[in-house]
Amino acid sequence: MLSLPLLLLLLWGTGSQGFPAATSEIQEQDMEMVKKYLENYYNLNSDEKQMKKMRKSIPVVEKLKQMQKFFGLKVTGKPNAETLNVMKQARCGVPDIAKFVLTEGNPRWEHTNLTYRIENYTPDLPRAVVDHTIEKAFQLWSNVSPLTFTKVFKGQADIMISFVWRDHGDNSPFDGPGGNLAHAFQPGQGIGGDVHFDEEERWTNDFTDYNLYHVAAHELGHSFGLSHSTDIGALMYPTYIFSGDVQLSQDDIDGIQAIYGPSKNPIQPIGPQTPRACDSQLTFDAITTLRGEVMFFKDKFYMRVSSFYPETEVNFIAVFWPTLANGLEAAYEFADRDEIRLFKGHKYWAVRGYDVLPGYPRDIYRSFGFPRSVKSIDAAVFEEDTGKTYFFVANKYWRYDEYKRSMDAGYPKLIADGFPGIGNKVDAVFQKDGFFHFFHKTRQYKFDPKTKRILTLQKANSWFNCR
Ligand SMILES: *[C@@H]1O[C@H](CO)[C@@H](O)[C@H](O)[C@H]1NC(C)=O
Ligand SMILES: [Zn+2]
Ligand SMILES: [Zn+2]
Repeated sequence: MLSLPLLLLLLWGTGSQGFPAATSEIQEQDMEMVKKYLENYYNLNSDEKQMKKMRKSIPVVEKLKQMQKFFGLKVTGKPNAETLNVMKQARCGVPDIAKFVLTEGNPRWEHTNLTYRIENYTPDLPRAVVDHTIEKAFQLWSNVSPLTFTKVFKGQADIMISFVWRDHGDNSPFDGPGGNLAHAFQPGQGIGGDVHFDEEERWTNDFTDYNLYHVAAHELGHSFGLSHSTDIGALMYPTYIFSGDVQLSQDDIDGIQAIYGPSKNPIQPIGPQTPRACDSQLTFDAITTLRGEVMFFKDKFYMRVSSFYPETEVNFIAVFWPTLANGLEAAYEFADRDEIRLFKGHKYWAVRGYDVLPGYPRDIYRSFGFPRSVKSIDAAVFEEDTGKTYFFVANKYWRYDEYKRSMDAGYPKLIADGFPGIGNKVDAVFQKDGFFHFFHKTRQYKFDPKTKRILTLQKANSWFNCR
């Protein structure tokens, strides 16, 4: 699981320069890592042996392609920089493809009243915190399935939990700090269902590496028979991304319910869905430019579009800005100060690059002069030529002078008067090359502020490379 995901390793702070070209030199040391990674998580060797018997061979290239496909990378079969970066991320030790491809699938517990036992404790956290954390991790899953859990203090439990290091007798040694963080075994007798945490990690109960609640909740998914998900918003995603809260996504819920059936709860629990860039129903909370790129915000995710990078990147907002709220409502770039301002309710944050600037969140009343009747802002955009920022609130808009730092007189005005044709409500807006792009539901209007005309009407997700 990762401490810093791929995108943080790419160059962020160089303005319109965008990303650096991938280095083509693959170090020998990297090649070793690639082989190890594919052996550990994609069964490189065991398949090779088996294939040799059958007088066929599966070269590294095929395994690399499998890995690249899993992580949504460009499938090249070559260990390019992007691929290496993913391989360097901290992750779960369970392979991404089933260990024994030929055994019958869908391992599950035959009883739903499972027992667990914590065999030993990490010194990194007080015992009571570990107890509580593990209990919460079980609860996440019992909330959405018929499974129930009883803690026992001696003897054999279905799920034995321990903190161990290096070689610990199950043929799956840990690797010291970072890298492989934990693993768990699929349902079954003996070691089946058991969870092992690498004691050489620093276990925490906050946002620093590595959050025990997050990792425990993930590993328990394996204990119940789930395998890794390619959905980056799922708890069962193989790399470690701490997004501020630990929550089962709809993908996780679908997974556990596919094995054990629905929850006994009369109201079926639902979880957040990860936005998909090419979903034609996709809508946005807020959009802004950011140093020449465009950032789209949706729930706790952002989607990033850059002309230097063909794929739309989807990840957690918290990966960039851990202290920001999810569900942002408006955002704009004040490029003169290299600041992005992000709004939710009557609060807003300013960020520069990765940094949330100190002293935030602030409130919109004191900073911008909104009346108290304004409870939240739907959308905002800065107009470079005039130094004015437009704020959209319901069917009206306000104009703020960034240099005088005051709201212009005569506002609010009706959107229908200032921006004819875009409708009475704006979800998100950003400026690019002098044009405003307004978004409402699944529609997008390209608007020329000089002529006050709509130039084109497009799907909201037209910025993503969708066929
Ligand atoms: C689980 O339920 C079964 C059947 O009701 C029962 O025989 C068994 O003792 C229960 N186990 C635990 C740990 O409660
Ligand atoms: Zn895992
Ligand atoms: Zn182990």
